[in-house]
Amino acid sequence: MTDTPFDRTHAVAGYGMRTLAVHAGQRPDPATGAVAPPIAAASAFAYDDFDAGARRFSGESPGFIYSRFANPTVQIFEAKMAALENGEAAVAFASGMAAISATLLGLLSTDDEVIYVGTLYGGTDSLMRTLLPRLGIRTIAVPDVQSVHAQITSKSKLIFAETPANPTMAILDVAEIASLARSAGMISVVDNTFSTPCLTQPLGLGIDVVVHSATKYIGGHGDATGGVVIAAARLIDPIRTAGLKHIGGCLSPHEAVMLIRGLKTLPLRVSASCENAQYLAERLQGHDKIEQVYYPGLPTHPGYAVARRQMRQPGGMLSVSLVGGRPAARAFLDGLSLITQAVSLGDVDSLACHPASTTHSAMAEAVRLQSGVTEGLVRISVGIEDAEDLWRDIEHALAGCRNE
Ligand SMILES: Cc1ncc(COP(=O)(O)O)c(C=O)c1O
Repeated sequence: MTDTPFDRTHAVAGYGMRTLAVHAGQRPDPATGAVAPPIAAASAFAYDDFDAGARRFSGESPGFIYSRFANPTVQIFEAKMAALENGEAAVAFASGMAAISATLLGLLSTDDEVIYVGTLYGGTDSLMRTLLPRLGIRTIAVPDVQSVHAQITSKSKLIFAETPANPTMAILDVAEIASLARSAGMISVVDNTFSTPCLTQPLGLGIDVVVHSATKYIGGHGDATGGVVIAAARLIDPIRTAGLKHIGGCLSPHEAVMLIRGLKTLPLRVSASCENAQYLAERLQGHDKIEQVYYPGLPTHPGYAVARRQMRQPGGMLSVSLVGGRPAARAFLDGLSLITQAVSLGDVDSLACHPASTTHSAMAEAVRLQSGVTEGLVRISVGIEDAEDLWRDIEHALAGCRNE
């Protein structure tokens, strides 16, 4: 392979999201004509002679060396993600957490300060509270974008945010975060897992680095684990070095091919999930067993106006708090039959979970309640099934909850 997938990414720039999802970063394999990407299972790549090896290692001549550093199948996935997020470069990892830790460890040094905004995914929250402080990196949690400014010091290096945030779908203003970071000379990082590039492209709003758990919407079928970071090449380089050379959290080419296949239908799946979620949110609102519906597509959601501005559709994730707390949540979840009880999200299958006893159970109660994770809260990752079938399942499960 002489051309890099990034060249090919630029060749398809200017096309729509659905075209990019199918074509960006790939073309029939030049060696065999295979239309689907071949899985390059090799861990090492041969060079012609002694001097060619030295040239490849020095970077003087391009080419693959070892799959932990770069792999042809993984590069196709990276190129597709760079195209979809409209970024210059991308680097893939074995999971979303590998992507997030590589980003933070690649861009930060001892004595730097990180400000993180709102509620983060539990794994990221724990990284901020435990590993980074152990390395001498100060991490400061703020509840909203308005509180960032007061925390900026000469040591502030990076702002990290996630939107919509789990599980109340809190919306943060991405453009505002970008402009705050830029004026303070800080790097801004957004976890775009819930939105996907189909709904929000943070780089276009001025954000420096986008991270994803590819395990979710990008793969979309609950059968592959991965992560990816998209940014300018000058930022991707240190992230790649930290995450792949030093920590070794590389994406397997076998997983990469699943993620490439998932990406091809990303815009279709995300759109179908959003339509279903909007339909369910509207039907759930006002139901006598429901205290509150958390969905950014409802005008009653506090983030509605910002979501309308920065998201093409309001997403496929919604949460509800049930009248009757934990017993009601238990009865509701155990009463579902089509919707599966499981964590994770972004699959074609609808999934539901009780954050207080699962994803957020390790959080201190006060922090958990402050994040809106009450005992009656249930999160639903709305899949692509027929909306009416999903509603029937939910309605039946709600009928089994007693109003207390
Ligand atoms: C928003 C968000 N970011 C990151 C992660 C971590 O991703 P992974 O499980 O692929 O490591 C998750 C996992 O649930 C998530 O929801």
